[in-house]
Amino acid sequence: MTDQHYLDENYDMNDSGNPEFFELLNKQMNRRDLIKKTAGGAVAMTLAASLTGCGSDDNDNNNSAPPATETPNPDVDLTTRPSSLSFTPVEKHTRSEFTVPDGYDFKILHAVGDPLNSRLPVWDENRIPSGISYDRRVGDNHDGMTFFGMNPSTLKYDANESNQGLLVMNHEYIQRSDLHPRGSSFSDSSITEDEVFREVNAHGVSIVAINKNPVTQAISVDLDSEYSSFNRRITAATVIDFAGPVRGTDLVKTAFSPDGTSTRGTINNCGNGYTPWGTYLTTEENFNQYIARQGDVRDAETEYAIGTRYRMGSNASGYNWQSITDPQLTEDKTLFSRWNSIVSGTSATRDFRNTVNTFGWIVEIDPFDNRQRPVKRTALGRFAHEDCRVSRAIPGQPLAFYMGDDSTGEYIYKFVSDAVWDPKDVNGGYAAGDKYMNSGKFYVAKFDFNEATGEATGEWLELSMSNPSITAYERYKFKDQADILVHARIAADAAGATKMDRPEWVAVNPENGEVYVTLTNNSSRGSSYPTDAANPRRYADDDDASGRLRGNINGHIIRFREPDADVTATTFTWDIYLFGAESDSIEDVNLSGLTDANDFSSPDGMWFDPRGVLWIQTDDGAYTDTTNCMMLASLPGAVGDGSVQNAKSGDGTQKTPTGAILDDSKLRRFLVGPKGCEITGVTMTPDYKAIFVNVQHPGGTWPANQPGHLISTGRGSRPRSATVVITRKDGGVIAGETLEPSKA
Ligand code: FEO
Ligand code: CA
Ligand code: CA
Ligand code: CA
Repeated sequence: MTDQHYLDENYDMNDSGNPEFFELLNKQMNRRDLIKKTAGGAVAMTLAASLTGCGSDDNDNNNSAPPATETPNPDVDLTTRPSSLSFTPVEKHTRSEFTVPDGYDFKILHAVGDPLNSRLPVWDENRIPSGISYDRRVGDNHDGMTFFGMNPSTLKYDANESNQGLLVMNHEYIQRSDLHPRGSSFSDSSITEDEVFREVNAHGVSIVAINKNPVTQAISVDLDSEYSSFNRRITAATVIDFAGPVRGTDLVKTAFSPDGTSTRGTINNCGNGYTPWGTYLTTEENFNQYIARQGDVRDAETEYAIGTRYRMGSNASGYNWQSITDPQLTEDKTLFSRWNSIVSGTSATRDFRNTVNTFGWIVEIDPFDNRQRPVKRTALGRFAHEDCRVSRAIPGQPLAFYMGDDSTGEYIYKFVSDAVWDPKDVNGGYAAGDKYMNSGKFYVAKFDFNEATGEATGEWLELSMSNPSITAYERYKFKDQADILVHARIAADAAGATKMDRPEWVAVNPENGEVYVTLTNNSSRGSSYPTDAANPRRYADDDDASGRLRGNINGHIIRFREPDADVTATTFTWDIYLFGAESDSIEDVNLSGLTDANDFSSPDGMWFDPRGVLWIQTDDGAYTDTTNCMMLASLPGAVGDGSVQNAKSGDGTQKTPTGAILDDSKLRRFLVGPKGCEITGVTMTPDYKAIFVNVQHPGGTWPANQPGHLISTGRGSRPRSATVVITRKDGGVIAGETLEPSKA
């Protein structure tokens, strides 16, 4: 079996070129080369201006040079955490527009279907490219994303490099009615091989080389320099190795990999993470939606695991990819049929009954290594993984990986490495991954609250065969650690973990090591899931005539502190950092005192930049009568800086420990996306002068309706998920205004 599935590598190549496309490329290349040769400073700025016309107009093609600004005070380090926020808060709106603060600009870097090399034709909605070619095109529904600086000499990871780098991003799922040539007349019952290829390839991860002009901060996608050799896709068909305790066990043996050491594809890649050695972590969230089990019959215990706890019922139909049983465009004849995970052969090595166990993992990708296969790190457990954040890398101390399982009433987990951090492992690639991610302890979180004393404490419950609650569990008999990892949800049930309001992204505060987790919402909180101090609210949305909006409608962000910032600790203290709410909600719903400048609903994406600014993104369906999804910036304090409050909990109240009330100098809205979208994925260049976000599943005709901001090369007006880069028009530090005396 080879890693290359496709018979015709030249399919959809367009060697005749496209004049507009090459013109754009040449323009970018010439400009970049000149700037590189002059090595920054005043001369480079003059050259950049003369090449581009130096417009400050938003309609310019990402070429606007900054106006001359004051010389920064040399005594002020502009890359430190600002003490307050002073950019103009962006107003809520429901327009089909992406909006940023005054003095900021944004560009749409690339959108679904854009090519990753200059030989492929541009995306054109009247000539949608072949499904096969999408393994060299940007995928759909962009999600988690990380910028990795690249040293221009060694072509390796460099955490301090801002002007060349690899932007790595997830493609969570697909917008079927916008993806295919037949558009909204798509029907999965008549799905074709070309469409299946397009769908499989539009999932996964993109690695995209980008360049930043150090003077203008203009970003370009690199399609043809030496850096562009790193451009590539990992898809739902890419061969990926298993590592850790589950590798080689009976649970993951298939006809594709009878020794259980590898599998094909990663799917529903949602949140993300990155390691201190310079690799990307992608997460496999709602993998259950893709897997069919047509005609499958298993014993009751296996059915409980697969069907009840992992939500792949015995008649699951998936995306119907499995219907392509005799593909013509690949030699890998089971590439699609394996999505029907049924018992059909005489053993697991002769069928794909174990496809169900090959997804739901954290996958490590070394963006700088396109020879070795990505790796599924099984020691971190199997569930609907959303985000994976590593603790601060402190020499001589273990690394912890904090993770959420985004499903109603599921759990928060951590994995603590046996190995201690050695900075010599930077650029250690998959070998470093083997060192830190294959061997360690796996835990799930339990939150407690003492109403009498107001103490909020918690425990990390170990998920291993040394935990008697797991070995004695009646509902499922665990055989070994591999069984616990594959069935982490059931082990967490047995251990007695706290059922949370859909744990999404995780962020680690670089100042103090505290860990934040978004709990996006839970319509069943207060009904099938009783309220508790960590998930305290049940209320109704008064202006929702449908009566649909009940429970924890707007979500919250919980945070915890391990004693002495020791990541091996098995206890913690906690509070709720922020409650999502409408600013005019009643007091015991709007417990964080949100105002027009910072109210939000359904927190999802979240990231501490290395200065300590916390970025919060929303994926909302409750406040969308008033505002599209958004991103906010915030400057948190620490666990315990607030007080115990009474939260609305149905007809009564629930006491809950709440963080300090923030005014809008500590929490304010930074951007609002176009109607219909989710804002997700956030990363910056290390100089803090460019911040990247993703716009997932916009509606209307976005981004075509904001043409002045497009550097993406497509033709057409279908809505397209896209990556956006935001810079300051004066080239300054994002959200750093208060460090500049003239702007404070
Ligand atoms: Fe993919 Fe939980 O958002
Ligand atoms: Ca409302
Ligand atoms: Ca998400
Ligand atoms: Ca979400």
